Amino acid sequence: MNTPEIKDKIFWVGAIDWNVRDFHGYSTYKGTTYNSFLVKDEKIALFDTVKKSHMNELVHHIRQLVEPTDIDYLIVNHVEMDHSGSLPEIVELIKPEKIFCSKMGLKAIEEHFHPADWPLEAVDNGQTISLGSKTVQFLETRMLHWPDSMFSYLQEDKLLISSDAFGQHLASSERFDDQIDFSELMEQTAKYYANILTLYSPLIRKLLAKVKEMGLEIDMIAPDHGVIWRSHINDVLNAYADWSQNKGKRKALVIYDTMWASTEKMAKAITTGIDMTGVSVKLINLAQSHRSDVMTDVLNAKAVILGCATLNNGMLPRMAGFLMYMRGLKPTNKIGAAFGSFGWSGEAVKLMNAAMEEMKFDIIEPGMRVKYVPNHTDLQECVEMGRRIGQAVIAQTQE
Ligand code: FEO
Repeated sequence: MNTPEIKDKIFWVGAIDWNVRDFHGYSTYKGTTYNSFLVKDEKIALFDTVKKSHMNELVHHIRQLVEPTDIDYLIVNHVEMDHSGSLPEIVELIKPEKIFCSKMGLKAIEEHFHPADWPLEAVDNGQTISLGSKTVQFLETRMLHWPDSMFSYLQEDKLLISSDAFGQHLASSERFDDQIDFSELMEQTAKYYANILTLYSPLIRKLLAKVKEMGLEIDMIAPDHGVIWRSHINDVLNAYADWSQNKGKRKALVIYDTMWASTEKMAKAITTGIDMTGVSVKLINLAQSHRSDVMTDVLNAKAVILGCATLNNGMLPRMAGFLMYMRGLKPTNKIGAAFGSFGWSGEAVKLMNAAMEEMKFDIIEPGMRVKYVPNHTDLQECVEMGRRIGQAVIAQTQE
Protein backbone atom coordinates (compact mmCIF):
# COMPACT_ATOMS: atom_id res chain seq x y z
CA MET A 1 0.00 0.00 0.00
CA ASN A 2 1.03 3.62 -0.22
CA THR A 3 1.52 5.86 2.80
CA PRO A 4 -0.97 8.72 2.46
CA GLU A 5 -0.25 12.05 4.11
CA ILE A 6 -3.35 12.47 6.27
CA LYS A 7 -2.32 15.91 7.58
CA ASP A 8 0.70 18.12 6.97
CA LYS A 9 3.76 15.89 7.60
CA ILE A 10 1.61 13.15 9.18
CA PHE A 11 1.47 9.83 7.34
CA TRP A 12 -0.46 6.56 7.71
CA VAL A 13 2.08 3.73 7.89
CA GLY A 14 -0.05 0.90 9.31
CA ALA A 15 -0.94 -2.54 8.04
CA ILE A 16 -4.06 -4.09 6.51
CA ASP A 17 -5.19 -7.50 7.71
CA TRP A 18 -7.52 -8.63 4.94
CA ASN A 19 -7.88 -12.16 6.26
CA VAL A 20 -8.51 -12.02 10.01
CA ARG A 21 -11.95 -13.47 10.73
CA ASP A 22 -11.91 -13.81 14.50
CA PHE A 23 -10.82 -11.33 17.13
CA HIS A 24 -10.98 -13.14 20.47
CA GLY A 25 -14.56 -14.20 19.81
CA TYR A 26 -15.61 -11.18 17.70
CA SER A 27 -16.28 -12.13 14.07
CA THR A 28 -14.32 -9.88 11.74
CA TYR A 29 -15.81 -10.83 8.38
CA LYS A 30 -14.46 -7.64 6.88
CA GLY A 31 -10.89 -7.97 8.15
CA THR A 32 -9.26 -5.06 9.92
CA THR A 33 -6.37 -2.63 9.87
CA TYR A 34 -3.73 -1.86 12.46
CA ASN A 35 -3.11 1.85 12.05
CA SER A 36 0.18 3.52 12.81
CA PHE A 37 1.05 7.12 12.11
CA LEU A 38 4.41 8.70 11.37
CA VAL A 39 4.98 12.39 12.03
CA LYS A 40 7.93 13.95 10.19
CA ASP A 41 8.65 17.03 12.23
CA GLU A 42 11.96 18.19 13.74
CA LYS A 43 11.49 15.13 15.87
CA ILE A 44 10.20 12.11 14.00
CA ALA A 45 7.55 10.22 15.92
CA LEU A 46 5.80 6.91 15.37
CA PHE A 47 2.36 6.55 16.96
CA ASP A 48 1.56 2.91 17.74
CA THR A 49 2.84 -0.21 16.04
CA VAL A 50 1.03 -3.26 14.65
CA LYS A 51 0.30 -6.92 15.32
CA LYS A 52 3.45 -9.02 15.17
CA SER A 53 2.28 -10.86 12.05
CA HIS A 54 2.15 -7.54 10.17
CA MET A 55 5.44 -6.01 11.29
CA ASN A 56 7.10 -6.24 7.88
CA GLU A 57 4.29 -4.19 6.37
CA LEU A 58 4.81 -1.46 8.97
CA VAL A 59 8.56 -1.42 8.42
CA HIS A 60 8.11 -1.32 4.64
CA HIS A 61 5.80 1.69 4.99
CA ILE A 62 8.17 3.50 7.36
CA ARG A 63 11.06 2.96 4.94
CA GLN A 64 9.09 4.70 2.18
CA LEU A 65 9.34 7.88 4.28
CA VAL A 66 12.36 7.69 6.58
CA GLU A 67 15.04 5.34 7.76
CA PRO A 68 13.69 3.52 10.83
CA THR A 69 16.70 4.69 12.85
CA ASP A 70 15.67 8.31 12.10
CA ILE A 71 12.63 7.90 14.35
CA ASP A 72 13.18 9.71 17.64
CA TYR A 73 10.01 9.01 19.58
CA LEU A 74 7.72 6.05 19.81
CA ILE A 75 4.29 6.65 21.31
CA VAL A 76 2.42 3.66 22.68
CA ASN A 77 -1.23 4.60 23.14
CA HIS A 78 -2.32 1.04 23.93
CA VAL A 79 -0.47 -2.15 24.84
CA GLU A 80 -2.91 -4.78 23.55
CA MET A 81 -0.99 -7.12 21.25
CA ASP A 82 -2.69 -6.01 18.02
CA HIS A 83 -0.88 -2.69 18.50
CA SER A 84 2.19 -3.73 20.43
CA GLY A 85 2.98 -7.28 19.31
CA SER A 86 5.81 -6.04 17.11
CA LEU A 87 7.16 -3.65 19.76
CA PRO A 88 10.32 -5.60 20.73
CA GLU A 89 11.47 -5.86 17.10
CA ILE A 90 10.51 -2.25 16.32
CA VAL A 91 12.33 -0.89 19.38
CA GLU A 92 15.38 -2.92 18.38
CA LEU A 93 15.16 -1.61 14.81
CA ILE A 94 14.58 2.09 15.44
CA LYS A 95 16.36 2.49 18.76
CA PRO A 96 14.12 5.38 19.84
CA GLU A 97 15.38 8.17 22.04
CA LYS A 98 12.16 7.89 24.07
CA ILE A 99 9.08 5.70 24.28
CA PHE A 100 6.10 7.61 25.65
CA CYS A 101 3.17 5.82 27.27
CA SER A 102 0.71 6.29 30.12
CA LYS A 103 1.68 5.28 33.66
CA MET A 104 -0.46 2.17 33.35
CA GLY A 105 1.04 1.66 29.90
CA LEU A 106 4.50 1.55 31.39
CA LYS A 107 3.41 -1.21 33.76
CA ALA A 108 1.66 -3.08 30.97
CA ILE A 109 4.73 -2.86 28.71
CA GLU A 110 6.89 -4.22 31.51
CA GLU A 111 4.44 -7.04 32.17
CA HIS A 112 4.17 -7.95 28.50
CA PHE A 113 7.75 -7.60 27.27
CA HIS A 114 9.95 -7.48 30.37
CA PRO A 115 12.30 -4.98 28.68
CA ALA A 116 15.76 -4.53 30.14
CA ASP A 117 16.69 -1.09 28.95
CA TRP A 118 13.95 0.51 26.85
CA PRO A 119 13.86 4.34 27.21
CA LEU A 120 10.32 4.34 28.62
CA GLU A 121 8.79 7.56 29.86
CA ALA A 122 5.35 7.64 31.49
CA VAL A 123 3.37 10.78 30.74
CA ASP A 124 0.70 12.47 32.84
CA ASN A 125 -2.82 13.12 31.71
CA GLY A 126 -2.79 16.42 29.80
CA GLN A 127 1.02 16.52 29.46
CA THR A 128 2.43 17.86 26.22
CA ILE A 129 5.60 17.24 24.26
CA SER A 130 6.91 19.21 21.31
CA LEU A 131 7.98 17.61 18.05
CA GLY A 132 9.13 20.99 16.68
CA SER A 133 6.26 22.66 14.89
CA LYS A 134 3.74 20.24 16.36
CA THR A 135 2.62 19.72 19.94
CA VAL A 136 1.34 16.38 21.18
CA GLN A 137 -1.00 16.33 24.17
CA PHE A 138 -1.62 13.03 25.92
CA LEU A 139 -5.08 12.27 27.26
CA GLU A 140 -5.43 9.36 29.62
CA THR A 141 -8.49 7.22 28.78
CA ARG A 142 -8.11 4.55 31.43
CA MET A 143 -10.36 1.51 30.83
CA LEU A 144 -11.25 2.65 27.32
CA HIS A 145 -10.77 -0.09 26.95
CA TRP A 146 -7.68 -1.21 28.88
CA PRO A 147 -6.09 0.40 31.95
CA ASP A 148 -3.19 1.66 29.81
CA SER A 149 -5.26 3.27 27.02
CA MET A 150 -4.61 6.88 26.08
CA PHE A 151 -5.25 9.28 23.21
CA SER A 152 -2.68 11.52 21.53
CA TYR A 153 -3.95 14.90 20.39
CA LEU A 154 -1.89 16.90 17.90
CA GLN A 155 -2.90 20.40 18.81
CA GLU A 156 -1.90 22.39 15.71
CA ASP A 157 -3.51 19.81 13.41
CA LYS A 158 -6.58 19.26 15.62
CA LEU A 159 -5.93 15.56 15.07
CA LEU A 160 -7.04 13.04 17.67
CA ILE A 161 -5.20 9.72 17.49
CA SER A 162 -7.79 7.77 19.42
CA SER A 163 -6.40 4.27 19.89
CA ASP A 164 -9.26 1.72 19.74
CA ALA A 165 -12.03 4.29 20.27
CA PHE A 166 -14.04 5.20 17.15
CA GLY A 167 -12.46 2.23 15.36
CA GLN A 168 -13.97 -0.35 13.04
CA HIS A 169 -12.79 -3.79 12.04
CA LEU A 170 -12.83 -3.01 8.35
CA ALA A 171 -10.06 -3.74 5.87
CA SER A 172 -10.01 -1.43 2.85
CA SER A 173 -7.58 0.21 0.51
CA GLU A 174 -9.32 3.50 1.32
CA ARG A 175 -8.11 5.41 4.35
CA PHE A 176 -10.89 7.93 4.97
CA ASP A 177 -14.52 7.76 6.06
CA ASP A 178 -15.80 9.63 2.98
CA GLN A 179 -14.21 7.11 0.61
CA ILE A 180 -16.33 4.14 1.68
CA ASP A 181 -20.02 3.38 1.95
CA PHE A 182 -21.47 5.31 4.91
CA SER A 183 -23.96 2.67 6.05
CA GLU A 184 -21.25 -0.02 5.99
CA LEU A 185 -18.99 2.30 7.97
CA MET A 186 -21.59 2.97 10.65
CA GLU A 187 -22.55 -0.69 10.84
CA GLN A 188 -18.96 -1.70 11.51
CA THR A 189 -18.53 1.20 13.96
CA ALA A 190 -21.63 0.04 15.83
CA LYS A 191 -20.40 -3.56 15.87
CA TYR A 192 -17.10 -2.40 17.31
CA TYR A 193 -18.82 -0.37 20.03
CA ALA A 194 -21.23 -3.20 20.84
CA ASN A 195 -18.54 -5.84 21.21
CA ILE A 196 -15.66 -3.88 22.71
CA LEU A 197 -17.04 -0.82 24.46
CA THR A 198 -20.60 -1.48 25.67
CA LEU A 199 -19.47 -2.25 29.21
CA TYR A 200 -17.53 1.02 29.37
CA SER A 201 -20.50 3.19 28.37
CA PRO A 202 -20.49 5.18 31.65
CA LEU A 203 -16.81 6.07 31.05
CA ILE A 204 -17.55 7.03 27.45
CA ARG A 205 -20.26 9.42 28.63
CA LYS A 206 -17.72 11.02 30.98
CA LEU A 207 -15.06 11.19 28.27
CA LEU A 208 -17.39 12.88 25.80
CA ALA A 209 -18.40 15.41 28.46
CA LYS A 210 -14.74 16.03 29.28
CA VAL A 211 -13.83 16.60 25.61
CA LYS A 212 -16.68 19.12 25.38
CA GLU A 213 -15.61 20.84 28.60
CA MET A 214 -12.00 21.10 27.37
CA GLY A 215 -13.23 22.70 24.16
CA LEU A 216 -11.03 20.31 22.20
CA GLU A 217 -11.31 21.19 18.54
CA ILE A 218 -11.30 18.05 16.45
CA ASP A 219 -10.70 18.21 12.74
CA MET A 220 -9.81 14.55 12.30
CA ILE A 221 -10.05 11.36 14.36
CA ALA A 222 -7.54 8.64 13.56
CA PRO A 223 -8.37 5.38 15.33
CA ASP A 224 -6.09 2.37 15.42
CA HIS A 225 -8.54 0.25 13.38
CA GLY A 226 -10.36 1.01 10.15
CA VAL A 227 -10.73 4.30 8.35
CA ILE A 228 -9.92 7.81 9.55
CA TRP A 229 -12.78 10.18 10.33
CA ARG A 230 -12.55 13.53 8.55
CA SER A 231 -16.03 14.11 7.04
CA HIS A 232 -18.32 12.32 9.50
CA ILE A 233 -16.83 13.37 12.83
CA ASN A 234 -20.13 14.61 14.22
CA ASP A 235 -21.85 11.43 13.07
CA VAL A 236 -19.48 9.21 15.03
CA LEU A 237 -19.43 11.47 18.10
CA ASN A 238 -23.24 11.59 18.12
CA ALA A 239 -23.45 7.83 17.64
CA TYR A 240 -21.11 7.26 20.61
CA ALA A 241 -23.15 9.69 22.71
CA ASP A 242 -26.31 7.84 21.74
CA TRP A 243 -24.97 4.30 22.28
CA SER A 244 -23.40 5.21 25.61
CA GLN A 245 -26.83 6.32 26.89
CA ASN A 246 -28.17 2.74 26.41
CA LYS A 247 -31.63 4.13 25.73
CA GLY A 248 -32.62 1.60 23.10
CA LYS A 249 -34.84 2.24 20.12
CA ARG A 250 -38.37 0.98 19.52
CA LYS A 251 -37.04 -2.41 18.54
CA ALA A 252 -37.26 -5.92 20.00
CA LEU A 253 -35.13 -9.00 19.44
CA VAL A 254 -36.34 -12.56 19.83
CA ILE A 255 -33.15 -14.57 20.23
CA TYR A 256 -33.49 -18.34 20.47
CA ASP A 257 -31.94 -21.74 20.14
CA THR A 258 -34.11 -24.76 19.55
CA MET A 259 -33.81 -28.54 19.75
CA TRP A 260 -36.77 -30.04 17.84
CA ALA A 261 -38.34 -26.78 16.62
CA SER A 262 -40.81 -26.35 19.52
CA THR A 263 -38.99 -23.32 20.93
CA GLU A 264 -38.71 -22.01 17.39
CA LYS A 265 -42.51 -22.20 16.99
CA MET A 266 -42.88 -20.22 20.22
CA ALA A 267 -40.28 -17.69 19.02
CA LYS A 268 -42.18 -17.11 15.78
CA ALA A 269 -45.49 -16.67 17.60
CA ILE A 270 -43.95 -14.15 20.04
CA THR A 271 -42.40 -12.31 17.09
CA THR A 272 -45.85 -12.14 15.46
CA GLY A 273 -47.34 -10.67 18.64
CA ILE A 274 -44.64 -7.99 18.88
CA ASP A 275 -45.07 -7.17 15.20
CA MET A 276 -48.80 -6.69 15.71
CA THR A 277 -48.05 -3.74 18.03
CA GLY A 278 -46.04 -1.95 15.34
CA VAL A 279 -42.73 -2.38 17.16
CA SER A 280 -39.81 -3.35 14.93
CA VAL A 281 -38.84 -6.93 15.72
CA LYS A 282 -36.05 -9.25 14.61
CA LEU A 283 -36.02 -13.02 14.99
CA ILE A 284 -32.52 -14.39 15.59
CA ASN A 285 -31.63 -18.08 15.57
CA LEU A 286 -28.35 -18.50 17.44
CA ALA A 287 -27.52 -21.50 15.27
CA GLN A 288 -27.35 -19.15 12.28
CA SER A 289 -25.99 -15.95 13.81
CA HIS A 290 -22.64 -15.09 15.32
CA ARG A 291 -22.76 -13.80 18.88
CA SER A 292 -20.95 -10.60 17.93
CA ASP A 293 -23.53 -9.79 15.25
CA VAL A 294 -26.30 -10.46 17.75
CA MET A 295 -24.66 -8.03 20.19
CA THR A 296 -24.67 -5.39 17.45
CA ASP A 297 -28.46 -5.77 17.30
CA VAL A 298 -28.68 -5.68 21.10
CA LEU A 299 -26.93 -2.28 21.09
CA ASN A 300 -29.99 -0.48 19.72
CA ALA A 301 -32.78 -2.76 20.91
CA LYS A 302 -35.10 -1.98 23.79
CA ALA A 303 -36.30 -5.55 24.39
CA VAL A 304 -34.20 -8.71 24.44
CA ILE A 305 -36.46 -11.79 24.51
CA LEU A 306 -34.66 -15.10 25.00
CA GLY A 307 -35.88 -18.56 24.07
CA CYS A 308 -34.21 -21.89 24.72
CA ALA A 309 -35.12 -25.53 25.11
CA THR A 310 -33.94 -27.37 28.21
CA LEU A 311 -31.11 -29.85 27.74
CA ASN A 312 -29.65 -31.92 30.58
CA ASN A 313 -31.29 -29.69 33.21
CA GLY A 314 -29.74 -26.58 31.67
CA MET A 315 -29.67 -24.43 28.57
CA LEU A 316 -28.55 -25.45 25.10
CA PRO A 317 -24.83 -24.62 24.86
CA ARG A 318 -25.25 -21.90 22.24
CA MET A 319 -27.62 -19.92 24.49
CA ALA A 320 -25.37 -20.49 27.52
CA GLY A 321 -22.38 -19.21 25.53
CA PHE A 322 -24.29 -16.21 24.24
CA LEU A 323 -25.45 -15.29 27.74
CA MET A 324 -21.89 -15.54 29.06
CA TYR A 325 -20.76 -13.19 26.29
CA MET A 326 -23.62 -10.72 26.74
CA ARG A 327 -23.26 -10.65 30.54
CA GLY A 328 -19.61 -9.68 30.14
CA LEU A 329 -20.56 -6.74 27.92
CA LYS A 330 -23.21 -5.57 30.38
CA PRO A 331 -25.87 -4.00 28.18
CA THR A 332 -28.26 -2.07 30.41
CA ASN A 333 -31.72 -0.62 30.39
CA LYS A 334 -33.38 -3.47 28.47
CA ILE A 335 -36.75 -5.12 28.76
CA GLY A 336 -36.34 -8.89 29.12
CA ALA A 337 -38.48 -12.03 28.94
CA ALA A 338 -37.79 -15.74 28.50
CA PHE A 339 -39.53 -18.74 27.00
CA GLY A 340 -38.80 -22.29 25.94
CA SER A 341 -40.04 -25.83 25.53
CA PHE A 342 -39.03 -28.73 27.76
CA GLY A 343 -39.60 -32.45 28.25
CA TRP A 344 -39.58 -33.18 31.99
CA SER A 345 -37.51 -30.70 34.02
CA GLY A 346 -37.55 -27.34 32.20
CA GLU A 347 -34.81 -25.27 33.87
CA ALA A 348 -33.76 -23.19 30.84
CA VAL A 349 -36.35 -20.42 31.34
CA LYS A 350 -35.37 -19.97 34.99
CA LEU A 351 -31.68 -19.83 34.06
CA MET A 352 -32.25 -17.24 31.32
CA ASN A 353 -34.31 -15.15 33.73
CA ALA A 354 -31.52 -15.34 36.33
CA ALA A 355 -28.96 -14.15 33.78
CA MET A 356 -31.19 -11.23 32.77
CA GLU A 357 -31.81 -10.34 36.42
CA GLU A 358 -28.07 -10.18 36.91
CA MET A 359 -27.90 -7.68 34.03
CA LYS A 360 -30.72 -5.72 35.69
CA PHE A 361 -33.05 -6.17 32.74
CA ASP A 362 -36.65 -5.20 33.41
CA ILE A 363 -38.20 -8.68 33.29
CA ILE A 364 -41.82 -8.09 32.42
CA GLU A 365 -43.02 -11.71 32.12
CA PRO A 366 -42.57 -14.66 34.50
CA GLY A 367 -41.39 -16.77 31.56
CA MET A 368 -43.39 -19.07 29.31
CA ARG A 369 -42.72 -22.81 29.26
CA VAL A 370 -44.38 -25.39 27.03
CA LYS A 371 -44.07 -29.15 27.49
CA TYR A 372 -42.73 -30.92 24.40
CA VAL A 373 -44.64 -29.40 21.45
CA PRO A 374 -46.84 -26.28 21.62
CA ASN A 375 -50.47 -26.62 20.57
CA HIS A 376 -52.66 -23.90 19.09
CA THR A 377 -53.60 -22.49 22.52
CA ASP A 378 -49.94 -22.37 23.59
CA LEU A 379 -49.02 -20.49 20.45
CA GLN A 380 -51.92 -18.09 20.91
CA GLU A 381 -50.54 -17.38 24.40
CA CYS A 382 -47.13 -16.74 22.86
CA VAL A 383 -48.72 -14.22 20.49
CA GLU A 384 -50.34 -12.51 23.47
CA MET A 385 -47.01 -12.47 25.28
CA GLY A 386 -45.48 -10.82 22.23
CA ARG A 387 -48.23 -8.17 22.25
CA ARG A 388 -47.56 -7.37 25.90
CA ILE A 389 -43.83 -7.08 25.17
CA GLY A 390 -44.51 -4.76 22.22
CA GLN A 391 -46.74 -2.57 24.38
CA ALA A 392 -44.06 -2.38 27.08
CA VAL A 393 -41.50 -1.34 24.46
CA ILE A 394 -43.83 1.41 23.24
CA ALA A 395 -44.39 2.60 26.81
CA GLN A 396 -40.65 2.80 27.48
CA THR A 397 -39.46 4.41 24.25
CA GLN A 398 -40.12 7.56 22.33
CA GLU A 399 -40.21 7.65 18.58
FE1 FEO B 1 -7.12 -2.86 19.01
FE2 FEO B 1 -7.52 -3.03 22.37
O1 FEO B 1 -6.70 -3.37 20.75
